Amino acid sequence: MLGDWGTNTLPGQQTAVAEAMRRWVGLHRLKIDALMMLGDNFYGPMRGGVQSHRWNRQFEEMYPASVFPGPAYAVLGNHDYERFFGNKVEAELAYAKAGSSRWRMPARWYTVSFPSNDPVMTFFCLDSNLPGTKSMDFIRPWSFEMSRAEANAQDEWLQGELGKDRPGQLLAFVAHHPLYTNGMHGDNPILISRWGRLLTEHRIAFYISGHDHDLQHLEFENRPTSFVVSGGGGAELVGWRTPPGRRGPFGARALGFTDLEIRQDSVLVRHIGRDATVLHSFEKRLALARKGFSSRGSRPVTA
Ligand SMILES: [Fe+2]
Repeated sequence: MLGDWGTNTLPGQQTAVAEAMRRWVGLHRLKIDALMMLGDNFYGPMRGGVQSHRWNRQFEEMYPASVFPGPAYAVLGNHDYERFFGNKVEAELAYAKAGSSRWRMPARWYTVSFPSNDPVMTFFCLDSNLPGTKSMDFIRPWSFEMSRAEANAQDEWLQGELGKDRPGQLLAFVAHHPLYTNGMHGDNPILISRWGRLLTEHRIAFYISGHDHDLQHLEFENRPTSFVVSGGGGAELVGWRTPPGRRGPFGARALGFTDLEIRQDSVLVRHIGRDATVLHSFEKRLALARKGFSSRGSRPVTA
């Protein structure tokens, strides 16, 4: 999983993280089932849309199928919501629809389950570009966001999906913007009021996002959800709004990515730095998570 990777100004940083991903897979002889692209997939102009050379250079060749043979499930970030020599949201949907790539975005919101037969975990891949979330980049004339009608349609769909019976499964929300973050964008009151209660009511185990260019893990007392920020895919690093020492357990201003491994009886989440070493990891045990547990259900593990 990685967010904020499609930089158009710092290609060396995207390449460094992609190399770390390849090293990580090679060192541990991993079989990667899927990639999760956490938004801000393409910063800046995207001339040619589906024909843009950026698809090959920054996705197909950057994360090669020889190492990452599985599908790459993508959600949309604020920088994808730009009409920059073409509508990047439409280009990303169309590239998936063309069907000749590992790129997957069947819609702006969708679910995906692992393993596909008899799944133990379902990811609700969401569009967090809700009305009012544009903050500072809304001043750019090419920038746009979801309409109220679209946001309502997504929530209606989400309620329906959450109402489906998925016995014994662990659930995760995946979206670009975090609800809670120590990074420069700060906590997002729009998302907190819209989705915060759902996370607790439906005992969502993970909320996985990017947007702040760092790696974080936040836990809150009496909340079932572990909040994971993985925005170190390549774009420029920035500072903290809240010192990570004050609210954690973890925050690093670092390039990197996140490995999520579904094990026999637990899910292991590891933040990996550009040198392919583990910066932070934690584990949620399936039995506890299924029953519904407090944030104490997640415990740090040694790398
Ligand atoms: Fe972003």
